[in-house]
Amino acid sequence: MKILVLNGSPRKNGNTAALVAAFKEGAESTGHEVTVFNVGNMKINGCLACEYCHGAGAGKCVQNDDMQKLYPDMASADMVVLASPVHYWSFTGQMQSCITRFYAPGKPAAMKYGMILSSESPGVYDAIISQYKSCIGYFGAKDMGIITVHGDENKSEAALKKARDFGASL
Ligand SMILES: Cc1cc2nc3c(=O)[nH]c(=O)nc-3n(C[C@H](O)[C@H](O)[C@H](O)COP(=O)(O)O)c2cc1C
Repeated sequence: MKILVLNGSPRKNGNTAALVAAFKEGAESTGHEVTVFNVGNMKINGCLACEYCHGAGAGKCVQNDDMQKLYPDMASADMVVLASPVHYWSFTGQMQSCITRFYAPGKPAAMKYGMILSSESPGVYDAIISQYKSCIGYFGAKDMGIITVHGDENKSEAALKKARDFGASL
């Protein structure tokens, strides 16, 4: 299966990146093809709500930013994994901007979704999980699993194993 991982952290070697690397290792060990985009470091603006994509653009976004690099992979992925640190009980702003840009092609091709979240505190995931579930429900997609890691668990062998096992379980 083709798996597209979107990492919303702006920290290149951060906690989310470590979980994503472990997830990738696990998924590749069972033959999946994994592509990671570090959207936290890409130039991706929020949706302009101009509706060009739903008119003359016929599914293409008018904005010529880094989201254009992602659209081809989104069109062919079987599964999308949203990986993000928790920023103020939500996805990072960068990740949220990226998600709003899913609007252009309409419902994404992937029918499987997963999520990897890193935070400082425990119990800070309700809003994100609620958004994620509503969003994939709207897409008609299936949740394949959610991993949360907080505080000192970050970068621990136990947390990396959890991410690796998640990847290998698919
Ligand atoms: C702007 C900002 C907001 C944050 N908000 C929260 C929060 O609401 N709850 C929490 O538990 N941690 C919060 N954190 C901590 C990060 O979620 C945590 O350090 C995470 O492991 C960072 O992952 P990263 O290294 O991949 O960026 C915040 C960090 C930043 C920089």
